[in-house]
Amino acid sequence: MTPLLTLPTADTAVDWTALENFAALRGQLRVSLTPRCNIACYFCHNEADVPPPLTRRDRVQQPRRRDIGAEDFLTVIRAMTRRGLRRIYFSGGEPLTSPLAREVLTGLEPLGPDGSYTLITNGTRIRTHRSWLGDTLLDKIKVSLHYFSDESLRAIAGTRIGIDAILDGIDIARGIVDHVELNCLLLKQNVHEVRHILDFALDQRMPVQFIELVETEFNQDQRSTAVSADGVIAHLRTLTRDEHSEVVGVGQGRRVFRVDGVKIEVIHRSLGRHHVGQCGPARSARSASKGSGL
Ligand SMILES: C[S@@+](CC[C@H](N)C(=O)[O-])C[C@H]1O[C@@H](n2cnc3c(N)ncnc32)[C@H](O)[C@@H]1O
Repeated sequence: MTPLLTLPTADTAVDWTALENFAALRGQLRVSLTPRCNIACYFCHNEADVPPPLTRRDRVQQPRRRDIGAEDFLTVIRAMTRRGLRRIYFSGGEPLTSPLAREVLTGLEPLGPDGSYTLITNGTRIRTHRSWLGDTLLDKIKVSLHYFSDESLRAIAGTRIGIDAILDGIDIARGIVDHVELNCLLLKQNVHEVRHILDFALDQRMPVQFIELVETEFNQDQRSTAVSADGVIAHLRTLTRDEHSEVVGVGQGRRVFRVDGVKIEVIHRSLGRHHVGQCGPARSARSASKGSGL
């Protein structure tokens, strides 16, 4: 396949200063392998594309057609990592529903000790793809765990998939990479399960990040489902005195706790800065009107 994205090769052809400055601030590249997902979390915003819950409600509304291939993704990732970006996140939609996932993730170049490739996934497809996921250079798998029962999973993601499939995915992920972490949005639908999710993370010695819901144009009618992180923070303070805040570079502001050596992070609105809703689609060189999906 001829790559759609033709990146300049001569150093004089492009001014990389902005990217290099972003990289120096520990900026990250988020690669959306597909806007599509096999579940439909109601808060999903899909970076300026049509999010899965909207398509679920109205089939006429579909995300952009994919117009770049695996080699195009790899071209962009290589160009940016060679210019200094060290942290690459693969997300979506659900990245493991993308037909390009295998080719992209098995085609990554080594990044060296200061770099990392992270897959962000809902966990439901890890078992299906476990045979080749072990052949990738992924450093970390982050599994979203905004639920701890079939009921809350259905309420949040509108799926009949059971919670056991996600817990199984987490288990398999731990056999694939050394670093498996959890992501948990704080919502009215899971407020009664947040302690269980924290206990599970502590018991399994897995880092977890608790995140306050960020309002986007797609979830404004659901804003009342957002739950403040104050309760989790108060509970964590009963478990540990090891706490500090991090607001570094272009990263999100977070409170970092260590409970028996396990890192628990809380993305707390009061610390400022978040990225949700700030990302937009990249444009391919051939057509600015068609999004590239990066
Ligand atoms: C959009 S999902 C995509 C990757 C994958 N399908 C998954 O479920 O992890 C990745 C993460 O984005 C974050 N996210 C999405 N929408 C958000 C919102 N409105 N506010 C805060 N975080 C959000 C959640 O942390 C979620 O776990």
